[in-house]
Amino acid sequence: MTRKTWRIGVAGLGTVGGGLLEFLLERPDFAPAGDRAVVTAVSARNRSRARSVDISGLAWFDDPVALAASPDIDIFVELVGGSDGPAKAAVEAALKAGKPVVTANKALIAEHGAELAALAEASGAPLLFEAAVMGGTPAVKMLREAMVGDDVSAMAGILNGTCNFILSEMESKGRSFPDVLADAQRIGYAEADPTTDVGGFDAAHKISILAALAFGCAPNFAAAEIEGIGQVEQLDIALAKDLGYRIRLIASTERTADGVAVRVHPSLVAFGHPLAETRGATNALFIEGSRIGRIFIQGPGAGAGPTAAACAADIADVMTGARRPVFQAPAAQLAPFVAVAPTRRVGKAYLRLLVKDQPGVIAAVSETLAECGVSIDSFLQKPVEDAGGVPIVLTTHAVAESVLTDAINRIERLEAVIERPKLLRIARI
Ligand SMILES: NC(=O)c1ccc[n+]([C@@H]2O[C@H](COP(=O)([O-])OP(=O)(O)OC[C@H]3O[C@@H](n4cnc5c(N)ncnc54)[C@H](OP(=O)(O)O)[C@@H]3O)[C@@H](O)[C@H]2O)c1
Repeated sequence: MTRKTWRIGVAGLGTVGGGLLEFLLERPDFAPAGDRAVVTAVSARNRSRARSVDISGLAWFDDPVALAASPDIDIFVELVGGSDGPAKAAVEAALKAGKPVVTANKALIAEHGAELAALAEASGAPLLFEAAVMGGTPAVKMLREAMVGDDVSAMAGILNGTCNFILSEMESKGRSFPDVLADAQRIGYAEADPTTDVGGFDAAHKISILAALAFGCAPNFAAAEIEGIGQVEQLDIALAKDLGYRIRLIASTERTADGVAVRVHPSLVAFGHPLAETRGATNALFIEGSRIGRIFIQGPGAGAGPTAAACAADIADVMTGARRPVFQAPAAQLAPFVAVAPTRRVGKAYLRLLVKDQPGVIAAVSETLAECGVSIDSFLQKPVEDAGGVPIVLTTHAVAESVLTDAINRIERLEAVIERPKLLRIARI
């Protein structure tokens, strides 16, 4: 039997692109159907840059859009990155030409997924993005394929390795956020501009994609509530620990009667919970389904090897002819994404107050909370040197966010309270 050779064009030869080239050079026959996948053409910014593999025998394109539309490739792999610009233009060009696209670009899929899905559908070309969420850990295929027989109600995970590394280091070494971030930048765990990671945007891109796959709606990144880890202080990590929690950046989504909520918040997770025990750059995800129950996956969320493996799995799907809608339904039938207003959230909370060292403060705070209908679960007062006051921290039972905000506003106005109380959510999972 003659084996078909699929000509692969790869735009972007950085961490992921380099990893994919190395893999395909070594294992061109990896795909189950027995055909071969051979990289024949590449594009990057700088032709003379040293690469981990010899690309001298491959066709070179200065412009990724020209590569995407080239009749000399069968599959276009986009590993440039960025929600707009050349990555988007190239993916659009490939799909318009009816060419299968594999990408690791979560920003692109989260922000333009619906329009790209429509383009893909119009030309009949697959658009696959396993590597876009959790790198080498197969979250996308799990939701898109293995869980279609279930109704997913909620998901919560650690989807940004950089943030988890920073929070883990802050906890284990007792160091501040700026200190650990500087270290993470030195060793290559964080970008020179860390905003996308530490601001929570990368995790929000990923959970927006997972929400679309789980709930059969178009991704709606614009509706995500996003809070990064920049405000997490060593004091919060220490106080949370005293209360039996670790702080993690939790990306979550749930479907309620009101619609879909997509959120990213630094959150308290109880000791012993698998998300609390997920340390370093590892990613993890809980999925709650009505029939399957609870599923937990954990694994590498980045890196050349794992991410290239996920791209290769998508290439294999194209080669074997596996076909699914880009999300869970044809583009025109995707449910509208009805976002739940942030004030509708109901959950437990952690409040840290800085108060004057005088009698009656705790009673005043407790009374205010009771008047607002917020019920206290636990209370901790801890003397801290040079804090400029006495830090007190309390956790609440489940409460509506609107009620909590009202209570925080009223506590802030109490005479003995020095600054606005700091709020962190306690993860629901
Ligand atoms: N790194 C990971 O572990 C990981 C994990 C999951 C998903 N992803 C996603 O994978 C994608 C690639 O990430 P990466 O970490 O591999 O990025 P990277 O190391 O920064 O590499 C980007 C590549 O794109 C090329 N490039 C940039 N602008 C270009 C342009 N205008 N035209 C042509 N080529 C251009 C660069 O060329 P030069 O080399 O010539 O500068 C470089 O080869 C991103 O969407 C990222 O979010 C990455």
